[in-house]
Amino acid sequence: MTNRKPIRKAVFPVAGMGTRFLPATKAIPKEMLPIIDRPLVQYAVDEAREAGIDQLIFVTGRGKTAIVEHFDHAFELEATMTERDKSLDAIDPTRILPGNLVTVRQQVPLGLGHAIWCARAIVGDEPFAIFLPDELMIGQPGCMKQMVEAYNEVGGNLISVLEVPEDEVSSYGVIDPGKRGFGPGGALTEVRGLVEKPTREAAPSNLIISGRYILQPEVMRVLEHQGKGAGGEIQLTDAMAQMIGQQPFHAVTFAGKRYDCGNKTGFVEATLAIALEREDMRDEVRAMALRLLGE
Ligand code: UTP
Repeated sequence: MTNRKPIRKAVFPVAGMGTRFLPATKAIPKEMLPIIDRPLVQYAVDEAREAGIDQLIFVTGRGKTAIVEHFDHAFELEATMTERDKSLDAIDPTRILPGNLVTVRQQVPLGLGHAIWCARAIVGDEPFAIFLPDELMIGQPGCMKQMVEAYNEVGGNLISVLEVPEDEVSSYGVIDPGKRGFGPGGALTEVRGLVEKPTREAAPSNLIISGRYILQPEVMRVLEHQGKGAGGEIQLTDAMAQMIGQQPFHAVTFAGKRYDCGNKTGFVEATLAIALEREDMRDEVRAMALRLLGE
Protein backbone atom coordinates (compact mmCIF):
# COMPACT_ATOMS: atom_id res chain seq x y z
CA MET A 1 0.00 0.00 0.00
CA THR A 2 1.11 3.55 -0.66
CA ASN A 3 -0.20 6.87 0.57
CA ARG A 4 -0.73 8.16 -2.97
CA LYS A 5 -3.80 10.29 -3.45
CA PRO A 6 -6.44 8.22 -5.29
CA ILE A 7 -7.71 9.34 -8.71
CA ARG A 8 -11.23 10.64 -8.04
CA LYS A 9 -11.69 13.30 -10.71
CA ALA A 10 -11.88 13.04 -14.47
CA VAL A 11 -11.74 15.91 -16.94
CA PHE A 12 -13.54 15.48 -20.27
CA PRO A 13 -12.48 18.21 -22.70
CA VAL A 14 -15.44 18.49 -25.06
CA ALA A 15 -15.14 22.06 -26.29
CA GLY A 16 -13.55 21.30 -29.68
CA MET A 17 -15.36 22.29 -32.86
CA GLY A 18 -15.44 18.84 -34.46
CA THR A 19 -14.78 20.26 -37.92
CA ARG A 20 -13.99 16.86 -39.42
CA PHE A 21 -17.59 15.79 -38.89
CA LEU A 22 -19.34 18.83 -40.34
CA PRO A 23 -22.17 19.27 -41.08
CA ALA A 24 -23.20 16.57 -38.53
CA THR A 25 -21.48 18.52 -35.75
CA LYS A 26 -22.88 21.93 -36.58
CA ALA A 27 -25.69 21.67 -34.00
CA ILE A 28 -24.76 18.40 -32.25
CA PRO A 29 -21.53 17.97 -30.28
CA LYS A 30 -19.14 15.40 -31.75
CA GLU A 31 -19.16 13.62 -28.37
CA MET A 32 -22.90 12.95 -28.77
CA LEU A 33 -22.49 11.04 -32.03
CA PRO A 34 -23.61 7.49 -31.23
CA ILE A 35 -21.74 4.27 -31.76
CA ILE A 36 -24.88 2.12 -32.23
CA ASP A 37 -27.08 3.35 -29.35
CA ARG A 38 -24.67 5.07 -26.95
CA PRO A 39 -23.06 8.45 -27.54
CA LEU A 40 -19.25 8.53 -27.49
CA VAL A 41 -19.25 10.46 -24.21
CA GLN A 42 -21.22 7.68 -22.50
CA TYR A 43 -18.50 5.12 -23.30
CA ALA A 44 -15.91 7.44 -21.74
CA VAL A 45 -17.97 8.05 -18.59
CA ASP A 46 -18.57 4.30 -18.18
CA GLU A 47 -14.82 3.72 -18.48
CA ALA A 48 -14.16 6.36 -15.78
CA ARG A 49 -16.63 4.82 -13.36
CA GLU A 50 -15.22 1.34 -13.93
CA ALA A 51 -11.87 2.81 -12.80
CA GLY A 52 -13.47 4.10 -9.59
CA ILE A 53 -13.65 7.72 -10.74
CA ASP A 54 -16.99 9.37 -10.04
CA GLN A 55 -16.37 13.13 -10.12
CA LEU A 56 -16.89 14.20 -13.71
CA ILE A 57 -15.69 17.57 -14.98
CA PHE A 58 -16.78 18.58 -18.48
CA VAL A 59 -14.96 21.40 -20.23
CA THR A 60 -17.67 22.59 -22.59
CA GLY A 61 -18.19 25.37 -25.09
CA ARG A 62 -20.94 26.89 -27.15
CA GLY A 63 -23.48 24.37 -28.52
CA LYS A 64 -22.45 21.61 -26.10
CA THR A 65 -25.42 21.64 -23.72
CA ALA A 66 -26.75 18.33 -25.11
CA ILE A 67 -23.88 16.58 -23.33
CA VAL A 68 -25.01 17.89 -19.95
CA GLU A 69 -28.68 17.15 -20.78
CA HIS A 70 -27.69 13.57 -21.56
CA PHE A 71 -26.59 13.06 -17.95
CA ASP A 72 -29.57 14.90 -16.46
CA HIS A 73 -32.75 13.45 -14.97
CA ALA A 74 -35.34 13.22 -17.77
CA PHE A 75 -38.55 13.49 -15.78
CA GLU A 76 -41.06 13.47 -18.66
CA LEU A 77 -39.35 10.63 -20.52
CA GLU A 78 -39.17 8.50 -17.38
CA ALA A 79 -42.77 9.23 -16.34
CA THR A 80 -44.14 8.39 -19.80
CA MET A 81 -42.07 5.23 -20.12
CA THR A 82 -43.14 4.05 -16.66
CA GLU A 83 -46.79 4.74 -17.50
CA ARG A 84 -46.39 2.58 -20.61
CA ASP A 85 -44.65 -0.21 -18.68
CA LYS A 86 -41.40 0.26 -20.58
CA SER A 87 -38.11 -0.65 -18.91
CA LEU A 88 -35.85 2.22 -17.83
CA ASP A 89 -32.72 0.03 -17.93
CA ALA A 90 -31.41 1.68 -21.09
CA ILE A 91 -31.10 5.06 -19.40
CA ASP A 92 -29.48 3.74 -16.22
CA PRO A 93 -25.92 4.55 -17.40
CA THR A 94 -26.89 8.22 -17.75
CA ARG A 95 -27.63 8.59 -14.03
CA ILE A 96 -25.10 10.66 -12.10
CA LEU A 97 -25.10 11.19 -8.35
CA PRO A 98 -26.24 14.78 -7.66
CA GLY A 99 -23.21 17.05 -7.43
CA ASN A 100 -20.87 14.69 -9.26
CA LEU A 101 -21.04 16.47 -12.61
CA VAL A 102 -19.45 19.87 -12.96
CA THR A 103 -19.08 21.92 -16.12
CA VAL A 104 -16.64 24.70 -16.85
CA ARG A 105 -16.65 26.71 -20.00
CA GLN A 106 -13.78 27.15 -22.43
CA GLN A 107 -15.00 30.35 -24.06
CA VAL A 108 -12.66 30.09 -27.07
CA PRO A 109 -11.28 26.75 -28.33
CA LEU A 110 -7.59 27.60 -28.02
CA GLY A 111 -6.45 24.00 -27.83
CA LEU A 112 -6.52 20.89 -25.63
CA GLY A 113 -3.95 22.30 -23.17
CA HIS A 114 -6.05 25.41 -22.70
CA ALA A 115 -9.22 23.31 -22.22
CA ILE A 116 -7.56 21.34 -19.40
CA TRP A 117 -6.29 24.54 -17.78
CA CYS A 118 -9.90 25.83 -17.72
CA ALA A 119 -10.66 23.05 -15.18
CA ARG A 120 -7.88 24.07 -12.75
CA ALA A 121 -10.14 25.42 -9.96
CA ILE A 122 -12.25 22.24 -9.90
CA VAL A 123 -9.29 19.87 -10.14
CA GLY A 124 -7.56 21.64 -7.23
CA ASP A 125 -4.54 20.03 -5.67
CA GLU A 126 -4.99 16.38 -6.59
CA PRO A 127 -3.97 14.05 -9.41
CA PHE A 128 -6.68 13.66 -12.04
CA ALA A 129 -7.59 11.70 -15.14
CA ILE A 130 -8.29 13.06 -18.62
CA PHE A 131 -10.49 11.35 -21.21
CA LEU A 132 -10.77 12.41 -24.85
CA PRO A 133 -14.17 10.89 -25.63
CA ASP A 134 -13.57 10.70 -29.38
CA GLU A 135 -10.94 8.05 -28.71
CA LEU A 136 -12.95 4.94 -27.96
CA MET A 137 -11.03 2.43 -25.86
CA ILE A 138 -12.51 -1.05 -25.54
CA GLY A 139 -10.83 -3.50 -23.19
CA GLN A 140 -11.31 -5.89 -20.27
CA PRO A 141 -10.68 -4.13 -17.97
CA GLY A 142 -11.04 -0.72 -19.59
CA CYS A 143 -8.10 1.50 -20.39
CA MET A 144 -8.38 3.81 -17.38
CA LYS A 145 -8.68 0.89 -14.98
CA GLN A 146 -5.43 -0.51 -16.42
CA MET A 147 -3.85 2.92 -15.98
CA VAL A 148 -5.04 3.30 -12.38
CA GLU A 149 -3.50 -0.12 -11.61
CA ALA A 150 -0.20 1.12 -13.07
CA TYR A 151 -0.54 4.41 -11.17
CA ASN A 152 -0.86 2.50 -7.91
CA GLU A 153 2.59 1.03 -8.65
CA VAL A 154 4.54 3.99 -10.00
CA GLY A 155 2.55 7.15 -9.23
CA GLY A 156 3.46 10.37 -11.05
CA ASN A 157 2.15 11.02 -14.54
CA LEU A 158 0.87 8.38 -16.96
CA ILE A 159 -0.30 8.45 -20.55
CA SER A 160 -1.82 5.68 -22.59
CA VAL A 161 0.13 4.83 -25.76
CA LEU A 162 -0.15 2.56 -28.77
CA GLU A 163 1.87 1.77 -31.86
CA VAL A 164 0.79 3.15 -35.24
CA PRO A 165 2.30 2.81 -38.73
CA GLU A 166 5.11 5.36 -39.19
CA ASP A 167 3.23 7.36 -41.82
CA GLU A 168 0.51 8.19 -39.25
CA VAL A 169 2.69 9.70 -36.49
CA SER A 170 2.37 13.28 -37.73
CA SER A 171 -1.31 13.42 -36.68
CA TYR A 172 -0.60 12.65 -33.01
CA GLY A 173 1.49 13.31 -29.90
CA VAL A 174 4.50 10.96 -29.98
CA ILE A 175 6.71 9.71 -27.12
CA ASP A 176 10.46 9.29 -26.91
CA PRO A 177 10.62 5.93 -25.09
CA GLY A 178 13.21 4.94 -22.48
CA LYS A 179 13.18 1.63 -20.57
CA ARG A 180 10.33 -0.61 -21.75
CA GLY A 181 8.29 -3.62 -20.66
CA PHE A 182 8.11 -3.37 -16.86
CA GLY A 183 5.33 -2.89 -14.25
CA PRO A 184 1.90 -4.62 -14.26
CA GLY A 185 1.68 -6.91 -17.31
CA GLY A 186 4.96 -5.44 -18.62
CA ALA A 187 2.87 -2.54 -19.95
CA LEU A 188 5.02 0.35 -18.71
CA THR A 189 7.49 2.42 -20.71
CA GLU A 190 9.59 5.28 -19.37
CA VAL A 191 8.85 8.54 -21.16
CA ARG A 192 11.98 10.61 -21.96
CA GLY A 193 10.34 13.15 -24.23
CA LEU A 194 7.10 14.10 -25.95
CA VAL A 195 6.45 15.85 -29.22
CA GLU A 196 3.13 16.94 -30.72
CA LYS A 197 2.51 16.20 -34.42
CA PRO A 198 6.14 15.68 -35.47
CA THR A 199 7.12 15.12 -39.08
CA ARG A 200 7.70 11.46 -39.87
CA GLU A 201 11.48 12.06 -39.96
CA ALA A 202 11.55 13.93 -36.63
CA ALA A 203 9.33 11.47 -34.73
CA PRO A 204 11.26 9.79 -31.87
CA SER A 205 9.13 6.60 -32.18
CA ASN A 206 5.84 5.33 -33.54
CA LEU A 207 4.25 5.23 -30.06
CA ILE A 208 1.43 7.75 -29.95
CA ILE A 209 -0.53 9.20 -27.03
CA SER A 210 -4.02 7.80 -27.19
CA GLY A 211 -6.53 9.94 -25.37
CA ARG A 212 -6.16 8.87 -21.72
CA TYR A 213 -3.99 10.56 -19.10
CA ILE A 214 -3.36 10.59 -15.35
CA LEU A 215 -1.62 13.83 -14.45
CA GLN A 216 -0.38 15.56 -11.33
CA PRO A 217 -1.95 18.93 -10.54
CA GLU A 218 1.37 20.76 -11.20
CA VAL A 219 0.57 20.50 -14.91
CA MET A 220 -1.92 23.34 -14.38
CA ARG A 221 0.88 25.68 -13.36
CA VAL A 222 2.89 24.72 -16.44
CA LEU A 223 -0.16 25.28 -18.65
CA GLU A 224 -0.58 28.74 -17.18
CA HIS A 225 2.54 29.87 -19.06
CA GLN A 226 2.28 27.55 -22.06
CA GLY A 227 2.53 29.31 -25.40
CA LYS A 228 0.97 28.13 -28.66
CA GLY A 229 2.43 25.02 -30.27
CA ALA A 230 1.56 22.83 -33.27
CA GLY A 231 -1.44 24.13 -35.23
CA GLY A 232 -1.34 27.46 -33.33
CA GLU A 233 -3.04 25.73 -30.34
CA ILE A 234 -2.03 25.51 -26.69
CA GLN A 235 -0.94 21.89 -26.56
CA LEU A 236 -1.21 19.60 -23.55
CA THR A 237 1.70 17.57 -24.95
CA ASP A 238 4.04 20.59 -24.72
CA ALA A 239 3.11 21.19 -21.07
CA MET A 240 3.56 17.50 -20.19
CA ALA A 241 6.96 17.50 -21.91
CA GLN A 242 8.14 20.14 -19.44
CA MET A 243 7.26 17.93 -16.49
CA ILE A 244 9.53 15.09 -17.62
CA GLY A 245 12.56 14.93 -15.35
CA GLN A 246 10.75 16.78 -12.55
CA GLN A 247 8.23 14.03 -11.82
CA PRO A 248 7.94 10.34 -12.77
CA PHE A 249 6.48 10.04 -16.29
CA HIS A 250 5.40 6.73 -17.79
CA ALA A 251 3.41 5.40 -20.70
CA VAL A 252 1.01 2.46 -20.42
CA THR A 253 0.50 0.28 -23.47
CA PHE A 254 -3.22 -0.40 -23.42
CA ALA A 255 -4.19 -4.07 -23.72
CA GLY A 256 -7.34 -3.67 -25.80
CA LYS A 257 -8.69 -2.01 -28.90
CA ARG A 258 -8.67 1.70 -29.66
CA TYR A 259 -10.78 3.41 -32.30
CA ASP A 260 -10.06 6.99 -33.34
CA CYS A 261 -13.66 8.18 -33.69
CA GLY A 262 -12.48 11.74 -34.39
CA ASN A 263 -12.04 10.69 -38.02
CA LYS A 264 -14.68 9.20 -40.27
CA THR A 265 -13.17 5.83 -41.11
CA GLY A 266 -12.27 5.25 -37.45
CA PHE A 267 -15.86 6.00 -36.53
CA VAL A 268 -17.22 3.50 -39.07
CA GLU A 269 -14.69 0.89 -37.92
CA ALA A 270 -15.79 1.33 -34.29
CA THR A 271 -19.45 1.01 -35.21
CA LEU A 272 -18.86 -2.18 -37.15
CA ALA A 273 -16.46 -3.71 -34.61
CA ILE A 274 -18.78 -3.10 -31.68
CA ALA A 275 -21.83 -4.32 -33.60
CA LEU A 276 -19.94 -7.54 -34.38
CA GLU A 277 -19.19 -7.99 -30.65
CA ARG A 278 -22.72 -7.40 -29.40
CA GLU A 279 -24.73 -10.53 -28.83
CA ASP A 280 -28.01 -8.80 -29.68
CA MET A 281 -26.94 -7.96 -33.22
CA ARG A 282 -23.73 -9.67 -34.29
CA ASP A 283 -25.27 -12.43 -36.45
CA GLU A 284 -27.45 -10.02 -38.42
CA VAL A 285 -24.65 -7.49 -38.85
CA ARG A 286 -22.19 -10.13 -39.98
CA ALA A 287 -24.63 -11.43 -42.59
CA MET A 288 -25.28 -7.86 -43.73
CA ALA A 289 -21.56 -7.03 -43.99
CA LEU A 290 -20.87 -10.14 -46.06
CA ARG A 291 -23.82 -9.29 -48.32
CA LEU A 292 -22.51 -5.73 -48.83
CA LEU A 293 -19.06 -7.08 -49.67
CA GLY A 294 -20.66 -9.35 -52.26
CA GLU A 295 -19.40 -12.60 -50.74
P1 UTP B 1 -9.49 17.45 -31.71
O1 UTP B 1 -8.10 17.69 -32.13
O2 UTP B 1 -10.11 16.14 -32.06
O3 UTP B 1 -10.38 18.66 -32.25
O4 UTP B 1 -9.55 17.66 -30.14
P2 UTP B 1 -11.93 18.77 -32.44
O5 UTP B 1 -12.28 20.21 -32.48
O6 UTP B 1 -12.68 17.97 -31.41
O7 UTP B 1 -12.23 18.09 -33.87
P3 UTP B 1 -11.76 18.50 -35.35
O8 UTP B 1 -10.29 18.20 -35.43
O9 UTP B 1 -12.08 19.95 -35.58
O10 UTP B 1 -12.58 17.60 -36.21
C1 UTP B 1 -9.19 16.64 -29.22
C2 UTP B 1 -10.02 16.79 -27.96
O11 UTP B 1 -9.78 18.05 -27.33
C3 UTP B 1 -10.96 18.79 -27.18
C4 UTP B 1 -11.94 18.22 -28.20
O12 UTP B 1 -13.28 18.42 -27.79
C5 UTP B 1 -11.53 16.75 -28.23
O13 UTP B 1 -12.10 16.02 -27.15
N1 UTP B 1 -10.66 20.23 -27.39
C6 UTP B 1 -9.86 20.60 -28.41
C7 UTP B 1 -11.17 21.18 -26.52
O14 UTP B 1 -11.93 20.85 -25.58
N2 UTP B 1 -10.85 22.49 -26.72
C8 UTP B 1 -10.05 22.89 -27.73
O15 UTP B 1 -9.76 24.10 -27.84
C9 UTP B 1 -9.54 21.92 -28.61
